[in-house]
Amino acid sequence: MVTDEEIASAAEVIRRGGLVAFPTETVYGLGANALDADAVAQIFELKGRPRFDPLIVHITRAEDLESLVEDVPAAARKLVAKFWPGPLSVVLPKRECVPDIVTAGLANVAVRCPAHPIARRLIELAGVPIAAPSANVFCAVSPTTAQHVRDQFAERLTHILDGGPCQVGVESTVVSFVDDVPTLLRPGGVTAEEIEQVIGTLRISEGDASQPASPGQLPKHYAPTTPLELSTDAPRPGLRVGLMTLGKPESVEGFAVIEVLSQRGSLREAAANLFAAMRRLDAMGLDYIVARPVPEEGLGHAIMDRLSRAAAK
Ligand code: TXA
Ligand code: MG
Repeated sequence: MVTDEEIASAAEVIRRGGLVAFPTETVYGLGANALDADAVAQIFELKGRPRFDPLIVHITRAEDLESLVEDVPAAARKLVAKFWPGPLSVVLPKRECVPDIVTAGLANVAVRCPAHPIARRLIELAGVPIAAPSANVFCAVSPTTAQHVRDQFAERLTHILDGGPCQVGVESTVVSFVDDVPTLLRPGGVTAEEIEQVIGTLRISEGDASQPASPGQLPKHYAPTTPLELSTDAPRPGLRVGLMTLGKPESVEGFAVIEVLSQRGSLREAAANLFAAMRRLDAMGLDYIVARPVPEEGLGHAIMDRLSRAAAK
C-alpha cells in the first residue's frame, strides 16, 4: 500500500510540473497541476490525446469549485452536495485561471471531487487542483489497476501511486450546466436515475460525433485491440471467440473463454470488473470478443455506453 511519504513526494512532482498516475474510485487518472499549462500539455503528449479533448479538474472540497468556475447554478449546487466526493463531474463556465489547454479552448470546465483517499491526499498535499484524464493511451481501455497503467506507459511514466483495484470501475458521470437544462454528457458511476431524483429530468446529450458537446465522447473509445461485438449471437465456427456476460451465460458452446462480470448479475459488480475483463480477453489472442448486452438501467447505462464504444468500427 501507498505510504503518506510516497503521496507527499508525488505531490511534489505535481507541484514541480510533472505527471503522476493515481487511483480514484472510478479509474486511475494521469494528473498534472491544472493551473500549469505546460504541465497539462505533457498529459496530452504522453496519452497521444488530441488537443480538442478537454480534461476534468479534480479538487477535494466543494468550496474549491467557486475558484474554478464563474457561477454555480442551484441545480449544480444540489448535485454536488449530494454526490461529492464521488463519481460525478460537473461542467460549468470556467474562470480565467483555468488554462485553455485544460478545456481544449472551450469556455467551460469539467470539475470533479473524487472520493478515493489517495486521490484526495494527493490533491491536498499538492495544494493545487489536478487535471486528470484516465491514465490510458488515447482510445484504449481505461485502467482500473496500477498494473494496467504500467502496462500502458512502461518507463515513460515513473510516478504511479498504487491504490489497488478501483471500486466503481467506470468513469464519472459528466453533467453539463452550461445550458438552462442540465444535460448528461457521459453516463458513469452516479446513475441518471439517482441524479434525476435530486434535480428532476436530465436531458440526454445525443452523441453527435461531428459536433460533440463532450468532445471526448468519440464513437470509438474504450476499445480493446481485439474486435468486439455487442450481440446475442452464437460464436462463428472455426474461430477463437471470447464471451463477456453480465451473469451466468445460458450457453457457452463454441466460446474459447468466458468472462462473467458478476456471478450474481450485479451491475455494480459488473462495472467494477468491466475494463479488467476486457483487458484479460484482449490479451488472449482471440479472433474476436462477443459482449452480451446488459439491462439499460442504473449502472447498465454506463456499461452499455462503454461496450458500444468498444464495439464501434
Ligand atoms: O472518472 C473520471 O472521470 C476519470 C477519473 C480519472 O477522474 N477521468 C476521466 O477523464 O474519465 P477522461 O479525460 O478520460 O474523460 C473526460 C470526459 C470526456 O468525455 C470529456 O469530453 C469530458 O469529460 N469533458 C471534460 N471537460 C469537458 C468540458 N469542458 N465540456 C464538456 N465535456 C468535457
Ligand atoms: Mg478516458
